[in-house]
Amino acid sequence: MRADSWVDSDRARRPSARMAIQPLLVSGHRSRRPWLRSVRFRRGHGAVAERTSPPSSAGLGGGRPGRRPPVGTSAAERTVRHGQPSVTQSLRARAEQLRSNPLLTLHGATGGGSDARAEAIRTYAFAVPSDAALDLIQRIASSGVVEIGAGTGYWAALLAARGVDVVAYDPAPAPSSDNHLFAGRQPWYDVRVGDEHAVAAHVDRTLLLVWPTFDEAWPAEAAERYHRRGGRQVIYVGEPAGGLTGDARFHALFGMLEHCFACAYGLLDSPCICGTESIWRQARTMDIPQWEGCEDRLYIFERVDPGLGHVVPNPLQRRRWPWRKGALR
Ligand SMILES: C[S@@+](CC[C@H](N)C(=O)[O-])C[C@H]1O[C@@H](n2cnc3c(N)ncnc32)[C@H](O)[C@@H]1O
Repeated sequence: MRADSWVDSDRARRPSARMAIQPLLVSGHRSRRPWLRSVRFRRGHGAVAERTSPPSSAGLGGGRPGRRPPVGTSAAERTVRHGQPSVTQSLRARAEQLRSNPLLTLHGATGGGSDARAEAIRTYAFAVPSDAALDLIQRIASSGVVEIGAGTGYWAALLAARGVDVVAYDPAPAPSSDNHLFAGRQPWYDVRVGDEHAVAAHVDRTLLLVWPTFDEAWPAEAAERYHRRGGRQVIYVGEPAGGLTGDARFHALFGMLEHCFACAYGLLDSPCICGTESIWRQARTMDIPQWEGCEDRLYIFERVDPGLGHVVPNPLQRRRWPWRKGALR
């Protein structure tokens, strides 16, 4: 069974409530609801739909609890103390390969086709770092980077190779068999064991999130926790709202989603985000290479202090008082 095959079967068993509003989009309603423009429904578009991990195998709740390394352990410690495959030697060997950014080369050689993507994301990373993107991160992250959900650590390694001070975390870093995406894959960087809680110890650094998991709560929690502790800058690499990265709350925190689809359209598989305040403001965005069917971009966000962001309105409350200014827009 392919590592991601449970995704398809899970989707097949559980009809998505999102599909319920698809007819609205194709029947012309879309033009009257401009905020829906960014919402895309891309079944069968070829991208690997990375979703909530199955509880039994993801290692984020399953796996072999007795053997799971404690939070914060590095690759070297995992090798020595927990008998996991030796990765430190291969990390050294791989440093040479990083001079040429092999993922960028592969993307160029294959024309960014979706066939090549499936293997590329498991060997390298979900998004393709361009030289311009790496230059920009190097320039703006002068006090270092903390990457959460780093997977193989490919972005972290490329940044470190340019002299950026990077700490990277993942609950199950490659090659952990607890990570269904990167099991058995050699890492590119010494990714430490840790989840969204790790940001608290690194708020002086820029937070980097590359393709944070689709429809899971942790990316939003990482962004909120980092903000609460005083963090100032987030670099997000992924898709806009309605894509396959983050959940609705995540996009609302970054001001990328201004309406609650759960309440407006009764979408059962989308969290209610009414009352969520955007605590991050987009400062800059940059094109990066995109795989076929994906809309990856790099976004830079700056901190917005509490009370100054956009608050997602509750559409049901607005309908109760239609004579109120703007309620019927
Ligand atoms: C779609 S992958 C992206 C990995 C990497 N950033 C990339 O671009 O290849 C999402 C990653 O998030 C990690 N993850 C899952 N739950 C997490 C959590 N609670 N905190 C941090 N990372 C988590 C997964 O283990 C996985 O490696």
